[in-house]
Amino acid sequence: MRAWTVLGIETSCDETAAALVRGGGSGPGEILSNVIFSQLDEHRPYGGVVPEIAARAHVEMLDGIVEQALARARVKLGEVDAVAATAGPGLIGGVMVGLVTAKALALAAGKPLIAVNHLEAHGLSARLCEGLEFPFLLLLVSGGHCQLLGVEGVGRFRLYGTTIDDAAGEAFDKTAKLLGLAYPGGPRIEALAREEGNPKRYALPRPLRGREGADFSFSGLKTAVRQVTLDADVQAADLAASFQAAVIDILRDRTFAAMAMFARDFPQTLSPAFVMAGGVAANGAIRSALGAFATAQGFDMKVPPPGLCTDNAAMVAWAGIERAQLGLFDPLNVAARARWPLETA
Ligand code: KG4
Ligand code: ZN
Repeated sequence: MRAWTVLGIETSCDETAAALVRGGGSGPGEILSNVIFSQLDEHRPYGGVVPEIAARAHVEMLDGIVEQALARARVKLGEVDAVAATAGPGLIGGVMVGLVTAKALALAAGKPLIAVNHLEAHGLSARLCEGLEFPFLLLLVSGGHCQLLGVEGVGRFRLYGTTIDDAAGEAFDKTAKLLGLAYPGGPRIEALAREEGNPKRYALPRPLRGREGADFSFSGLKTAVRQVTLDADVQAADLAASFQAAVIDILRDRTFAAMAMFARDFPQTLSPAFVMAGGVAANGAIRSALGAFATAQGFDMKVPPPGLCTDNAAMVAWAGIERAQLGLFDPLNVAARARWPLETA
């Protein structure tokens, strides 16, 4: 098996990131460097990510971040085997900055370019971290997406369920805003819930629980949270804990449905893996609850460390390695895409 050294670039949201990863096969890969600049201070006054500000910040930061990633890995640009960048989905201005930079670097170094689907990068990150064979069941929970998929291979996904309204991360962010907490809300809700929040204090709905299929819905939960916050005496820690418990119940119930679909599609998989990825998978309470549940259902849960669940470039470099191994390179005129569903990656 040939080992690849790939430079990865990530600019699809509010993180400017570059990383060098070496490896091959079904993983794990070796992360030689992983540099992330979070633009939180730029966006904080607005309570969310402002696309125009994000694109400008990527332009200002990316060269230096790439240089740092190469320097920390002690790898010269001429020594990389390929350059990979997120080509979508995401905020189009930012995606274009990263992709155009990757094209210039690939051209200058005479190396192949790999246009990576950001969701696929999240989805394959468990192979980067631990090594893992296909197929596996994937719960992708981030700020923009909430999906359950059967992953058969690179670019081969079966969609079992998706959200019909908000993504799980969006629900965390909106709840945080209602509680007057800063963006991004996920880590703040988690911290508040941990401060002895009583998860039974507020009765919140679990939309679609027990329904056929494995789709998600979070908007009813958000509306219920808003109703509770209208009460002047609202106990923030209790509401955070009650909200998080509702999210856990929803994720567990929908995952249960998808496990049956996976077992039907891949009956020959004897010890199936259940992978969680995306920013929400950084949540400690969700990790332990879903981990225990997966074990009880005969699945082996694999979830990257929190820092590799939220957006990073190591997962992009790894997705590049996965594609390079299959000879899947892209021409220099490949386009950035704001939308790019995984089923067509
Ligand atoms: O994957 P990611 O970094 O970016 C996207 O591709 O969307 O996910 C960001 C999302 C945000 O909504 C953020 O609030 C959420 O992940 N998140 C968390 C936690 N850390 C980040 N949600 C719950 N608990 C956390 N600890
Ligand atoms: Zn992401």
